[in-house]
Amino acid sequence: MMSELALFDQVIDRSAMNSDKWDKYSNDVIPMWVADMDFDAPACVKTALQNRIQQGVFGYTHIPKALVAAIQTHLQTSYDWPISGTHLVHLPGLVCALHLSVQTFSLPGDTIVVPGPVYYHLTKAPEMAGRNLLSIKMTLQEGRWLPDWQAFEKACALSDSKMILLCNPHNPGGTVYRREELEVIHGLAQKYDLLVVSDEIHCDLILDDITHVPFASLNQDAAQRTITLMAPSKTYNLAGLGYAFAVIENTHLRQRFNQGRAGLIPVPNMLGLTAAQAAYEEGQVWHHSLITYLRTNRDYIVERLADTPLTVSHLEATYLAWIDASNLPVEDAYAFFLEAGVGVSPGKDFGDANFIRLNFGCSMSVLQQALYRIENAIRVLQKR
Ligand SMILES: Cc1ncc(COP(=O)(O)O)c(C=O)c1O
Repeated sequence: MMSELALFDQVIDRSAMNSDKWDKYSNDVIPMWVADMDFDAPACVKTALQNRIQQGVFGYTHIPKALVAAIQTHLQTSYDWPISGTHLVHLPGLVCALHLSVQTFSLPGDTIVVPGPVYYHLTKAPEMAGRNLLSIKMTLQEGRWLPDWQAFEKACALSDSKMILLCNPHNPGGTVYRREELEVIHGLAQKYDLLVVSDEIHCDLILDDITHVPFASLNQDAAQRTITLMAPSKTYNLAGLGYAFAVIENTHLRQRFNQGRAGLIPVPNMLGLTAAQAAYEEGQVWHHSLITYLRTNRDYIVERLADTPLTVSHLEATYLAWIDASNLPVEDAYAFFLEAGVGVSPGKDFGDANFIRLNFGCSMSVLQQALYRIENAIRVLQKR
């Protein structure tokens, strides 16, 4: 039997899978953009799905009690966070919950505070709903991307500020907020009476020896003013199966969230529920190997790009390297690397055009090939 780590070395042909990631570019481009890994799903997930497909009847489905229990166990054992099953809201994705939260809990013209550059739906949700987006610039502070704390307080203090949208771990940049930092943010939320929507989708992808602290687990006040959004989709690469969940302890907030959802956001697909349950119940060994593999990939990128004009800041979490390309003498780093055969995400999608984001959730051999193309393109450029 192949070792778990060797499983990640396999290069899987995704060309016949209608993959967003692989079908965006022509065959001669290595796609390293959207947050989707190229790895085979854990065997436990595939077996659970096969068993469910084998049953052959696919009518309306309710949420399995065993899934609720698996989530509770996962949050308790991983984050020392006991939650009640009644506080869960099951969703077909996390993005819809970001938009729904903004639309349900703020009014047009209200200000929403968002540290960024950030995953674009955290800024799109306020913008699309006609809210006033106040982006707090994150800068490198002792090697970690953190918000400008003074600007953060100033924004929260505005009379029309209603909500903080937090991404923890942060995408891009990989910051895992420490307890003390979350306590500062909570202090602001409490002082200015703001709701916190905490997107924690990347919380099981921490590469350093740091523990994730769910914002809502900080204290009773935080629990009452927070909507926590999580999913197994990034960790186990199940995004195409559409399952995420919210934890909302405050009854009034949960009722309003559910009212906003009613008739518009469907219950999750049964296969998403099946996969999530299997991943949380049995995916621990696979997950452990994944983290080991990703850590090696992350460190390899830093090593290989060390002598180039690209600056790779240390990534505490996620498989999305946030790379400063401002020293590269080109107009558009994204277009430059695309021309060289590597399809990264342009930094401007997240709010900083000087950067590119490179997804290293792939086998080492693919990563090596991509880095070779990147290095080679830079070498040719430097010789000109
Ligand atoms: C921070 C963050 N939130 C949400 C999502 C997407 O969530 P979903 O696919 O469940 O809508 C992503 C995907 O990359 C993400 O990085």
